[in-house]
Amino acid sequence: MERLDKFLCDSGAGTRSQVKIMIKSGRVTIDGRTEKDAGAKIDPQTQKICLDGEPMTGAQRLVVMLNKPAGYITATEDKQDKTVMELLPEELRKAELKPVGRLDKATEGLLLFTNDGDLLHRLISPKKEVPKVYYAQHAGTATQEDVDAFAKGLTLGDGTVCLSAKLEPLGPGESRVTVCEGKYHQVRRMMASREMPVEYLERREEGNLCLGDLPRGKIRLLTEAEIQALEGK
Ligand code: URA
Repeated sequence: MERLDKFLCDSGAGTRSQVKIMIKSGRVTIDGRTEKDAGAKIDPQTQKICLDGEPMTGAQRLVVMLNKPAGYITATEDKQDKTVMELLPEELRKAELKPVGRLDKATEGLLLFTNDGDLLHRLISPKKEVPKVYYAQHAGTATQEDVDAFAKGLTLGDGTVCLSAKLEPLGPGESRVTVCEGKYHQVRRMMASREMPVEYLERREEGNLCLGDLPRGKIRLLTEAEIQALEGK
């Protein structure tokens, strides 16, 4: 249930004060009945809300992919550092987008944002096991023993137990790492625990999505089909 005035604002009908006037002047109906109370509680799933007879759809669900450059922290605001929110274009700043999970300040690559709270929680839940693929440049060279240790599930220095992960050596000092969870500094800590400290890290894939040719620092909107695939539908 949500407030009628908020629902109309989210639908793009106008600002909160404009919407209140529209409601007071009898232009809004709920299931065909005029509603003049801006604070009336509505259920958009089951009720039909119209403005001047036109059905309103509520907030548009948005999922945005950013190719994050190094130097930005994943936070909605910060006193010291530049945040990833600064990379969103002006017209998306008002959409109440939140980052899905986190990339470290130095890490580059695929970072999603959404205004859909349910989707956000589903995507960051380790139960959902959305695989995330990273390209790492690091000290040393990964061996079969390292691959096996990742597959078994590493225990980090502080006792943190990681789920089974995939390590694919690409050559001297280069590996691909696939993890299904998002613990703090996870890939860096996993690699460091095998004496291969990471020098460069880029997330290239998340679930069905890959960075493709999206330029660094740029965004694109996901299509509804991509969003549904991400949700496993
Ligand atoms: N693992 C890390 O160590 N850093 C990231 O930014 C993402 C995964």
